[in-house]
Amino acid sequence: MHEKNLKKYLNEIEQLSYDSRLPEHATLFKNKAIMSKMLWDVHYYNAKKFYKESNQPFDQPSSLEKNGYITGELNEKESLLLKEIFSSCKQIPLDPFEFSFDYFYEPRENLHRDMERVNNYFQPSEFFFNKFPELLDPLKILIEKENQFYWKVASCRIFEVKPVERTQGFHKDAQALGYKKLFFFPDGANKNIGSTNLIDKNGNEIIIDLKPGSWLLFENSLCAHQAYSSEDCVGRPTIEIDIMCDFITDTKLNYTGVNSWYPWFPVLDGGLKTNEKFDYDELYNRNLKRLAGLCNISKSDEYTFPCEMSDFYEVSDETFSIGPIKKDTIGPIKKDKWFKWFKWFE
Ligand SMILES: [Fe+2]
Repeated sequence: MHEKNLKKYLNEIEQLSYDSRLPEHATLFKNKAIMSKMLWDVHYYNAKKFYKESNQPFDQPSSLEKNGYITGELNEKESLLLKEIFSSCKQIPLDPFEFSFDYFYEPRENLHRDMERVNNYFQPSEFFFNKFPELLDPLKILIEKENQFYWKVASCRIFEVKPVERTQGFHKDAQALGYKKLFFFPDGANKNIGSTNLIDKNGNEIIIDLKPGSWLLFENSLCAHQAYSSEDCVGRPTIEIDIMCDFITDTKLNYTGVNSWYPWFPVLDGGLKTNEKFDYDELYNRNLKRLAGLCNISKSDEYTFPCEMSDFYEVSDETFSIGPIKKDTIGPIKKDKWFKWFKWFE
């Protein structure tokens, strides 16, 4: 395969129907997820460090860091606008294959079924894109201070938690730590409407109780949580704005599909031309080669200096030569526990 077709090829794999998937495709997904976590960890650390160094002397207490969540209320005018924005979005069936190739997505069929079972989804309207910044911009500094990083919008999602007997079960999302969830509730959140149930960093179990026009920002990969619903609930409309750490804050809304969550790699195409190997496409393609197995991370019996090796491209490598796949390495009890752990979509 010509190396330029690698991205196209991988993109096609990710769009395959469930039945057409091969075990090798899962391997590629997993490799990508591991590389993603490594890069986001480094990016998160650097973004935090940069924020603290840019705000000296640094003495900002953060309730978000202390408790794992914060809430707030919009004013009356903003609350009305929030309702208007939600109403302008039309309900649509969930399309789990609506995601950008550059973005982390939920690939599992059983999770897609669960997402449909628990939530109704809505198409973000033009009105949403035009007017939502009026609600988000005033929160810019507060969100910076609480996160102790500058931030951008990773993704948006408009949904409603349905009245259902059970939701996902408590779980942590186990995603990049520099990525957090911000929910806006046009009708509020409580036991009658539907809410979010979380265990804060001090071990307290909380059912979020907020009036119409409120918001919740929580550390979805550090605090166990689940959507709260019951058959008697009326349904909880939600506008989800997912944020990610960066070196400058930009509240511009970013939407690349209902199942797009955050960029696999903490780099976005800014159209910036740098030089040779560091333009966006070059850099991205190089990482794809690495994760596709077109690089050697192997044992060696002699030292090499970087100039003596290429770490990303070996034409003769067989991309899909894999070892035996271990099946059922997790016992039945553990498996159930892990299953709950990773049902993360709220
Ligand atoms: Fe979750």
